[in-house]
Amino acid sequence: MPDSTITILLVDDEESLREVVAERLRDAGFEVTEAVSGEQALARLERFAYDILLVDLHLPGIDGRAVIDAALTRYPSLIAIVLTGYATVRDAVDLLKRGATDFVAKPFPFEELRHIIDTALEQRRLKAENAYLRQQLDERFGLGALVGRSAPMRALYQRIEAVAPTAATVLITGETGTGKELVARAIHQGSPRRSQRFVAINCGAIPEPLLEDELFGHVRGAFTGAVANRPGRVEQADGGTLFLDEVGTMPTALQVKMLRVLQERAFERVGDTRTIHVDVRVIAATNADLAAMVGEGTFREDLFYRLNVVPLELPPLRDRAEDIPLLVNRFIERRSEGTTPVVVTQDAMRRLMAADWPGNIRQLENVIERALILGASAQRVDVPDLPNEFQPDVPEMAFSTTLPDDGTDLPALVTHLERQLITQALERTGGHRGDAARLLSLKRTTLVEKLKRLRLATPAS
Ligand SMILES: Nc1ncnc2c1ncn2[C@@H]1O[C@H](COP(=O)(O)OP(=O)(O)OP(=O)(O)O)[C@@H](O)[C@H]1O
Ligand SMILES: [Mg+2]
Repeated sequence: MPDSTITILLVDDEESLREVVAERLRDAGFEVTEAVSGEQALARLERFAYDILLVDLHLPGIDGRAVIDAALTRYPSLIAIVLTGYATVRDAVDLLKRGATDFVAKPFPFEELRHIIDTALEQRRLKAENAYLRQQLDERFGLGALVGRSAPMRALYQRIEAVAPTAATVLITGETGTGKELVARAIHQGSPRRSQRFVAINCGAIPEPLLEDELFGHVRGAFTGAVANRPGRVEQADGGTLFLDEVGTMPTALQVKMLRVLQERAFERVGDTRTIHVDVRVIAATNADLAAMVGEGTFREDLFYRLNVVPLELPPLRDRAEDIPLLVNRFIERRSEGTTPVVVTQDAMRRLMAADWPGNIRQLENVIERALILGASAQRVDVPDLPNEFQPDVPEMAFSTTLPDDGTDLPALVTHLERQLITQALERTGGHRGDAARLLSLKRTTLVEKLKRLRLATPAS
């Protein structure tokens, strides 16, 4: 059954045929509008985006060819089907080249037209589905997954876009948590290899004796327990992209073997003499200073140059603090799925933007996750919801009872004072809240409230 919302513009000056075809199409559930001339067709196309255009080639005045050209210019995804009594192969080929979908020679059985329409609709559906899937993949793995509008990020996007379509080896450097793996995936996603595999291997996470086997595979009997042939990651990545994460931890013996993969795209499985050739694009990542390691003799110079064809350096988060609000919002949206997103107070955001972030984006992601799970309010994230290192740090001298010339931050001072004294009282009483409250001349319930507000909650006592 066709979708009842599929709309067809039927253009034919031959009244009897037009009426018969229109009626049968309506019976089949399509919504049909008729036009008797090219002029009328163009006027209707001005006003409505039809799904399908059925047009007679030979019309008085503006002919079918001109109608198709005008329609496709305006609606490039329109399905245009030509009806003609004078079909010649040359006409048909010419029209298909101009973007028409198909043609039928008059007279035709209705079923033939129906079949052409159904096929075209199905093709359009598949195309839309593919485009949608592609877009989804881009959002998850492509440039769309990368958040940030700061100058260093924009420069990075440009370099990614330039290098992605090539087969060049890329070396991604950057501190931990700066997005090296995400960038590697974006490069793969933007390359002609995107429909092939992206195979990642973390050289630092696999114990040295197993790494060779993992990378290059083995043949049966290569060592005790090798009961069958097994391909390694390099082979699995054939046609696609091989991502060597933490490449700086690769043992020297394997560095030699990897160098050969880069130079000759060739290697042997463990225990085998047969050479295997692969077509892989290599992307490597490291948070170590490979150039310094070359100097110290712990990383092969020749491998370093082979990897460092296109260097990409990812900026640390502290160098692009302006991206922090965008990242925070992305992380919050990801967790809030449909519910009203949590708001981060200005004060909390200011502290997030001023922090040093040694763990970069991964650390920011964790801080936000934690605040959302453990935070006091379901609506907002405030300073006390952040870890200790984000709490106001008030120098002792600020406790002077003389107001400094440039003023002070009274709420921060009071909070700091409360924190210090309450923590000490709890320490002195071994966490006993009643005794601590007495030391501070507070009611127990008041102390409990303050503990909650200051996020100092300890096991109840
Ligand atoms: N620009 C970005 N936008 C959004 N999320 C990001 C961005 N960069 C990194 N992330 C997220 O931060 C986390 C860490 O990223 P990733 O694993 O790629 O870092 P890495 O540089 O490989 O870290 P490591 O050196 O520790 O392996 C991931 O959850 C990733 O999705
Ligand atoms: Mg990583």
